[in-house]
Order: sequence, then structure tokens, then C-alpha cells
Amino acid sequence: AGAGIATASIPFISSMNPSADVLLKANSEASIKGMKLGELKTVAWQGKPVFILRRTAEQITKMQADDGGGKDPQADSERVTNPDWLIVIGLCTHLGCVPSRNTAGWFCPCHGSVYDNSGRILTGPAPHNLDLPPYKFASDEKIIIGTENT
Ligand code: FES
Repeated sequence: AGAGIATASIPFISSMNPSADVLLKANSEASIKGMKLGELKTVAWQGKPVFILRRTAEQITKMQADDGGGKDPQADSERVTNPDWLIVIGLCTHLGCVPSRNTAGWFCPCHGSVYDNSGRILTGPAPHNLDLPPYKFASDEKIIIGTENT
């Protein structure tokens, strides 16, 4: 058992001393310049897909009018800092597949979970809403994912 503990401690120690490369990759910059209403962009942040959706006025109105109604009710205002932009981690909260767009918002091809345009779970086995990454708007044209406004 002692040898096993010693071996296991090596990656732990190295993870306590992240290299400059790893620190740099803690944040991802995403250009939102020129994105059209209703357009979706997927960017990578720390090895995960992040969905950036420029919502239409109709989508915003609908999302603000309900709480998702599923198993994880949440106000849209708790999920966005600017209603025009939905920014969520693009991994199904069931078993981590990448959902695709559908008329409701997103549909997970693995077991059929459906999310709305606020990333809230509507139906299916996913236990909760799509996770929200920390992010901030660096300008009208750029979002930095991995860090929040202070
Ligand atoms: Fe998405 Fe199972 S991984 S529904």
C-alpha cells in the first residue's frame, strides 16, 4: 500500500505546479464579431466544447417567459449576463455527449435529452441544465471564457 501511495502522489505534485502553457490555456478567447442572430458557434475551453449562441428576440422573449419547466427550473436571467448571448458548456449533463441543435434548442443524440435555448433541461435523462462556464465580455466582439467579471 505504501508504494501505491508514493506512486499516486507524483501526478498530484506535478498538478500543483502547472506550467505556463497550462496556465495560459485556463482561458479561451472567442471572437463573436459578425455573428448573426440565431447563429451558434462552438469553441474549445479546457478541452470542453462551449456553445455561444446569439439569441434572436423571439428566443429571448420565450426563454425569459418560463423557467424551463423541467427537473431543474431556473430563471433565464440566472443563466446569462447579457440576454443576447447564451454561453454554456456543450456537454450533456447525463453522460457527456455533445448535443446538437434542434427546434427546441438542443437535442442529445445519445439518450434523447432536450434542452431549451437557455440550456435548461426539458425532457430526457439528463439530471440538470447545461453547465455555465465562467466568462466575461472583453469587448463587443470578444468573450473570454474561464474568467469572470470582477
Ligand atoms: Fe445525453 Fe445521455 S448523454 S442523454
